[in-house]
Amino acid sequence: MPPPLLRVAAALALLSSPLAAAAGADAQLTVLAGQPGAVINRNIYGQFSEHLGHCIYDGIWVGTDSPIPNTDGYSNAVLAALRDLHVPILRWPGGCFADEYHWKDGIGPAEKRPSIYNSHWGGVVENNHFGTHEFLNLCEKLGIEPYICVNVGSGSVQEAMEWVEYMTSDASSPMANLRRANGRDRPWKVRYVAVGNESWGCGGNMRPEFYADNFRRYNTFLKDYASGPGNRLYRVACGPAEDDYAWTDTLMRIAGPQMSGLALHYYTIPTGDWSKKGSATQFGRPQYFSALGNTLRMEELVTRHSAIMDKYDPKKRVGLIVDEWGIWTDVEPGTNPGFLFQQNSMRDAIIAALNLHIFQAHADRVAGADIAQMVNVLQAMILTDHDRIVLTPTYHVFEMFRVHQDATLLPVELTTPNLSGTLEKIPMVSASASRDASGRIHLSLVNTDPDGAATVSCALAGASFGAVTGRILTAPAMTAHNTFDSPHSVEPVPFSGATVSGDRVAVVLPPLSVVVLEL
Ligand code: AHR
Repeated sequence: MPPPLLRVAAALALLSSPLAAAAGADAQLTVLAGQPGAVINRNIYGQFSEHLGHCIYDGIWVGTDSPIPNTDGYSNAVLAALRDLHVPILRWPGGCFADEYHWKDGIGPAEKRPSIYNSHWGGVVENNHFGTHEFLNLCEKLGIEPYICVNVGSGSVQEAMEWVEYMTSDASSPMANLRRANGRDRPWKVRYVAVGNESWGCGGNMRPEFYADNFRRYNTFLKDYASGPGNRLYRVACGPAEDDYAWTDTLMRIAGPQMSGLALHYYTIPTGDWSKKGSATQFGRPQYFSALGNTLRMEELVTRHSAIMDKYDPKKRVGLIVDEWGIWTDVEPGTNPGFLFQQNSMRDAIIAALNLHIFQAHADRVAGADIAQMVNVLQAMILTDHDRIVLTPTYHVFEMFRVHQDATLLPVELTTPNLSGTLEKIPMVSASASRDASGRIHLSLVNTDPDGAATVSCALAGASFGAVTGRILTAPAMTAHNTFDSPHSVEPVPFSGATVSGDRVAVVLPPLSVVVLEL
């Protein structure tokens, strides 16, 4: 096989004639522009922020008396980066932390709030300085929908019920008045509420029947305060771990009619071994391939859980909410193992794009997804070090893919070879297309091949091309990443590898690349 640069040159030469482009391309793609699918729920681009490591403290929140430039305690640099990202929805306060969180510890004057022990994540003392007001004000500032996970594991129905009243009631009721006494007159808009987290594991080790009944019980008391703004709750039930199809079946059978959404958690473990997951930046081809192979399992999980949901909910009223996903590697050497701090490479960018393509392809059922997590934890968007921040390759994918939010899915037909040199079945090219409200078509493409360019011959069925513009995220190595000293190593740049010839676009995707085209 020629070296990558020669392959790009050869591919460009090949694609200079439209006929050759169609015949000789690695992948053939047809965007079915005349057969629009479901609307891509913007919440697929959701994020997750847990009281874990430095996601909240020293990440989003630095406190009002910090020397780090901040606005009302939120890091200015993080705020600016999040603004550009158009984060649609943010899940909080956990994760496992949610099932030991008691919201009343996190309201009122900060210095009077009790400290608690964060038993799941590093055994640190949590001072509760970031609580309900701080979270909901952040969301309001950035135009983000808050997504609250209430405590089922160690909490009570009353506690959860009162939290919803505190946040959303406009009445002269005890909890609404407590909120007013704490300085917030108007209720916040809180629509999304999850009833517990991983109730099959850290959230209480429940059996599906027991959890399903509990879901129904909590649900009864989580009220819609209709006089407040947007307070028709969207109730998310704890869904399965990975391929626990029996959990989904039981939940849908017992509690399907009561829920608005069902969660699914699935992480990419590069080695497939939780006890030795692999490094975020020190890996070779075998782990690159196995990480991608493990990522692509998401397609099967979403398909099979959706099929079970279809059995009980053929009209697809209940959304599948993949509210934890992403690559989970070993922590960076020398960091607290309980803080889950990992770097983020070009591999992560590819993994993010592949997952987002899967969610979009299932836009008729997948109503939301929250990558784990937003800042400094697991597959983060942003890494912080005092007043310095790094935008990760994953951040750039989310930023480039913003154009798909709320757009209408355009189904694609794709013929692509699989990567050679691995037993994993990894398609070389992945694609997803949508049409936005103003009629623009966006096509995102991934070349997973670390060795060579992928040529794609693309036809638009049911629409015609005008000009094509685009951006590309790529890097010379799968391990390439941004650091505090070199924060711009992996960044999107304008893309000039797409050529319109008649009714086709010929695209040359360099090795390891993510491209978004506007047609
Ligand atoms: O995202 C980290 C943890 O992973 C979450 O707290 C938990 O829900 C999951 O197991």
